[in-house]
Amino acid sequence: MKNDKIEKVKELLEKDIKNVKDIKELNELKVKYLGKKGLITELNSEIKNIVAEEKKAFGMAVNEVRDMFNKFYEEKKGEFEDALLNEKLQAEAIDISLPATNIPIGAPNILEKLIEEVEEVYMSMGYDVVDGPEIEEDKYNFEMLNIPKGHPARDAQDTFYIEGEEILLRSQTSPVQVRTMLEGKGETPIRMICPGKTYRRDDDDATHSHQFMQIEGLLVDKDISLSDLKGTIDVVVKRLFGEDVETRFRPSYYQFTEPSVEVDISCFNCKGKGCNICKKTGWITIAGAGVVHPNVLRMSGYDPKVWSGFAFGFGAERMAMLKYDIGDLRVFYNTDLRESSIFDREEDL
Ligand code: DAH
Repeated sequence: MKNDKIEKVKELLEKDIKNVKDIKELNELKVKYLGKKGLITELNSEIKNIVAEEKKAFGMAVNEVRDMFNKFYEEKKGEFEDALLNEKLQAEAIDISLPATNIPIGAPNILEKLIEEVEEVYMSMGYDVVDGPEIEEDKYNFEMLNIPKGHPARDAQDTFYIEGEEILLRSQTSPVQVRTMLEGKGETPIRMICPGKTYRRDDDDATHSHQFMQIEGLLVDKDISLSDLKGTIDVVVKRLFGEDVETRFRPSYYQFTEPSVEVDISCFNCKGKGCNICKKTGWITIAGAGVVHPNVLRMSGYDPKVWSGFAFGFGAERMAMLKYDIGDLRVFYNTDLRESSIFDREEDL
């Protein structure tokens, strides 16, 4: 059956098909033919005016036009989408002949590196690496280290108090000595080091910081003397700074050791001749140390008649500053990535 109206729509559609240029126009065509007032939609509503015996044929003819449109629509849509994708791929193509962006490679934090080196040396001698809390009790930070309330030695270690006068940020890693001894219950020999953050109420400058790192060490056993301490420190220092570096002890005073010493090493830079690093003295101080005070052993449950020991505390920043020739302590705590270049200098030292 031929119906004039249907034939006209078909003809128009064939023409439109040829002219459609992009997806926008294609969608406009969809509205033109299948929209509410679209040409095919209108044909459909004509059906009620058609005499009964022709209704079926009319309906079929309209469906044919609709199918024609849909087929055309899908085909064109596919074409346009492919073209769009190709365009995009071309625009985003990677030019592999371009030189790559240079992404600087990070380096381990200098302090961490130094601490790991120290840990390795001590672990090779059978020491455990232990941890302690940074928020500490006055009892462990001072009292059980033989520094009672009101003792003038506390002045040099003023710190930040968290709750009243009892809870504070530890001013030294020495409280970990007490904690380790309490765990040992007066029975177990101890060999430990404890690297960690410490705090003091200091104004920050090139050589002071309100937060810094110490590496604590404690050995408790039988018949331990100052010469064991000297031998141990000597091994560590040689491994860290070089075989020709010598150790010397100077008398000092700490409340938790008796006798107490300052540990000096011969300047690894000028070999004792005198330079800027050793301030022309030929020697550099790297730690405080001593033989554990009987009171400290006793308070933590170790009988000083049976047990003896030595303890030491390295200043981690100080060691790193010496080893890597860093002039300002604040370098460790700011975010200047240029400091990673210090590693290039390691070989020169
Ligand atoms: N805790 C001391 C300080 O902060 C350093 C120290 C000295 C630690 C002697 C020790 C030691 O274990 O025996 O100044």
